[in-house]
Amino acid sequence: MAKRRLGILISGRGSNMAALVEASRAPGCPYEVALVASDKPAAAGLEWAAGEGIATFAQSPKGMPKPDYEAAINAALRAAGVEAIALAGYMRLLSDDFVARWRGRIVNIHPSLLPKYKGLDTHGRALAAGDAVAGCSVHIVTEELDAGELLGQAQVPVLPGDTAASLAERVLEQEHRLYPQVLAAWLASGNTIDRVS
Ligand code: GRF
Repeated sequence: MAKRRLGILISGRGSNMAALVEASRAPGCPYEVALVASDKPAAAGLEWAAGEGIATFAQSPKGMPKPDYEAAINAALRAAGVEAIALAGYMRLLSDDFVARWRGRIVNIHPSLLPKYKGLDTHGRALAAGDAVAGCSVHIVTEELDAGELLGQAQVPVLPGDTAASLAERVLEQEHRLYPQVLAAWLASGNTIDRVS
């Protein structure tokens, strides 16, 4: 079966993007990374992806109306033949219009056990609440922030003396394991992607 062409949107370090790229090289992986795009031209992840021979696209939204900025990203994704989008530390909210164009074809990794702690500072909030367990979630992106259908989760224990940084590090290891697995299963199932189009 032909591999699905994946676009990955990043804003920074890109460690989840790198995990997706590395997993894509395994025999039998149902996707290939067709484009890595960023709203931050200086994102470290862009340089890494380019060094791996992956097509990249950078467009700062500064000074652009949001629809024009998103039209540019959309055009780059379409030109690269992208069929599904993985958000990987992409720090910009997608408009309802963009989500509607790609409905059912965008996934995100979020560093909390959703529905807990949507939005930012997830680890600080988990610690402040005294949670014994933290983790990460992969979900479908809808118009509502961090609220789409859950595709998979991984848990880690919160340890005595944890700070937001130490907890983030432990959760990130799980993100790198979870995201490629869940994405591959989702794309291989074909359900979501074939339903739209
Ligand atoms: C990750 O923790 C991800 O869950 C969150 O932002 C962080 C991005 O890290 N959405 P990276 O750019 O993938 O290294």
